[in-house]
Amino acid sequence: MGQNNKKILILGAKGMLGSELAVLLADQKPTLWDREEIDIADHNQVNDKITMLKPEIIINCAAFTAVDDCEMKKDLALQVNNQAVGYLALTAKKCGAVLVHISTDYVFNGQNKKGYAEDSKEFGPVNFYGDSKLLGEKTLQNISDRYYLIRTSWLYGKNGNNFVKTMLKLGQDKKEIKVVNDQFGKPTSALDLAKQIVYILSNNLAFGVYHATNETKEGGISWYDFAQKIFELAHLAVMVEPCASSEFLRPAKRPAHSALINSKLPPLKNWEEALREYLELKVND
Ligand SMILES: NC(=O)c1ccc[n+]([C@@H]2O[C@H](COP(=O)([O-])OP(=O)(O)OC[C@H]3O[C@@H](n4cnc5c(N)ncnc54)[C@H](OP(=O)(O)O)[C@@H]3O)[C@@H](O)[C@H]2O)c1
Repeated sequence: MGQNNKKILILGAKGMLGSELAVLLADQKPTLWDREEIDIADHNQVNDKITMLKPEIIINCAAFTAVDDCEMKKDLALQVNNQAVGYLALTAKKCGAVLVHISTDYVFNGQNKKGYAEDSKEFGPVNFYGDSKLLGEKTLQNISDRYYLIRTSWLYGKNGNNFVKTMLKLGQDKKEIKVVNDQFGKPTSALDLAKQIVYILSNNLAFGVYHATNETKEGGISWYDFAQKIFELAHLAVMVEPCASSEFLRPAKRPAHSALINSKLPPLKNWEEALREYLELKVND
């Protein structure tokens, strides 16, 4: 049933999400490709290499995810987060493969305090990363009808940089830090997201759009709430001072409210429990 015994290709297999999926699906010996094996922004490579491999399921975890850099490198952002998705969708169609693609809370306009359900049309990214990911969503939906488009948010995992790792590092030598308390969203453990993707595939759920994040109260939590909990669970005595986004000007604007509402999947665990689990695994690494 589902993904069992199917030929799976994971793209971006060394990234935060891709590496968790690679471990979870290891029994099925998925093909693991990252930048060294394929440039997903090169149509010929995508067509030739994937057609030759003939996967039945393609999970695209590759993306240009450096939100601030996307403001400076707009062409690259469009190539990787939009055009490449089109190449993958065309090639998946040609091979008869299902395409799993990951998108973001940043496709929405950031104004809805309650959050956004799967069928929300309140699009309106506030930065270029969000623009490029939204275009990627549309490109996928225009080409494919055998896809899972899975939106997630505030991802942290073992591989790569993320907010939890940044806070833990800062907590080593600072006694006080300022963290913004006017941006709200839902933190998501990459391991839990990977499990949700496996659940979708194993259960042959209907194709379409899904939201997968750890659970929070309605409307999400702030980065300030998140930082406080990280220091508490890591037993670091750091005083967290709330501040406004206007004090932390960055190349890319961030949405104020970007909580994703999941109304289709069994809920993932609460964000505090997921964070505790992540920190325990990290300590035991
Ligand atoms: N991180 C978040 O907070 C977050 C939030 C919401 C949604 N998402 C989405 O979730 C998905 C997974 O994100 P992630 O954080 O796991 O990503 P990640 O850690 O940045 O991993 C992405 C991987 O893709 C590779 N890659 C980039 N461009 C490529 C190209 N042209 N060809 C082949 N490989 C390429 C990267 O290689 P290099 O490292 O060499 O560039 C990296 O190994 C993405 O679609 C992202 O947009 C992420």
